[in-house]
Amino acid sequence: MSHMPSTEVSGLEREIVRLKRGRDAVILAHYYAPPAIQRIADHVGDSFALAKLATTLPQQTIVMCGVRFMGESAKLLNPAKTVLLPAPAADCPMAHMVDRATIERMRAEVDDLAVVCYVNSTAEIKSWSDVCVTSSNAVAICRALPQSNILFIPDANLGRFIAEQLPEKHVYLNRGCCPRHQAISVDEVRALKALYPNAPVLAHPECTEAVLAEADFAGSTKEIIEYAAANDAEDLIILTVVGVAYELEARCPHKHFHFPATTPRCPDMELMTLEGVAAALRGELGEVTVDETHAEQAKATLDAMLSYAGR
Ligand code: 13P
Ligand code: SF4
Repeated sequence: MSHMPSTEVSGLEREIVRLKRGRDAVILAHYYAPPAIQRIADHVGDSFALAKLATTLPQQTIVMCGVRFMGESAKLLNPAKTVLLPAPAADCPMAHMVDRATIERMRAEVDDLAVVCYVNSTAEIKSWSDVCVTSSNAVAICRALPQSNILFIPDANLGRFIAEQLPEKHVYLNRGCCPRHQAISVDEVRALKALYPNAPVLAHPECTEAVLAEADFAGSTKEIIEYAAANDAEDLIILTVVGVAYELEARCPHKHFHFPATTPRCPDMELMTLEGVAAALRGELGEVTVDETHAEQAKATLDAMLSYAGR
């Protein structure tokens, strides 16, 4: 997860290193962040790795190169630290895709119910929930919950993926989805399989049920990268946002990674720039705050995830 510094360092990169020292800051980046950002990050990881890491770092300032919910999670878990989001407009559309009325209605109608929210959710949505999960720990945490009924929010695709693996639980789904993974079509996956018939198909569980049915493996971005690195195949079909190509190619320079022809991109993740990182470190933009009315319960929801994940 740690990256070696590159040998060719630009003036802006040097300024970032200087500013980072001055602010006692550490730079974290998601695997979907642009290559220039992943290159300068101190740590790159998936949503769970970044949230967990954020609780163990000695630095006083965390620069979160990801979307808003990632910055909010780092702030909730470290209320005394400064968390900076270098592209303040970078937001995950799915993170908003449930309303409070749905949750209240379900809590009133269904006994023995746990409200489980994907980490891709706002702090406010987390505050309405009992426990949070990421794509790398969702099945294990839902299996361990004492409740037999689960309302999974906001992602219907991840919820369905969990439900298929936990026949002992009744999982109620919500209508949210990641527009980027939802847009990957079965036809383009089959076209890739026709071109590379021996290539394992690795998919993110935010993909649709029909696309996941075409996959040999479904997992978080980190799990996809680890699976690809451990697999002997030279060609692999990757069904997630192309940002992961940077880490895949760094770890497996001799392998070939094939993405859907429509090239899934996350425009919010692509808002991040080195200029933005430098401006955030200069104190010009990006400080993350969480509304006090949601912070305590949202933190409890995240803490519940860390506690289940540590068992
Ligand atoms: P992971 O980092 O858990 O793989 O999730 C992908 C994602 O969509 C992050 O927004
Ligand atoms: Fe949200 Fe999808 Fe972008 Fe992830 S890839 S941040 S789920 S829009």
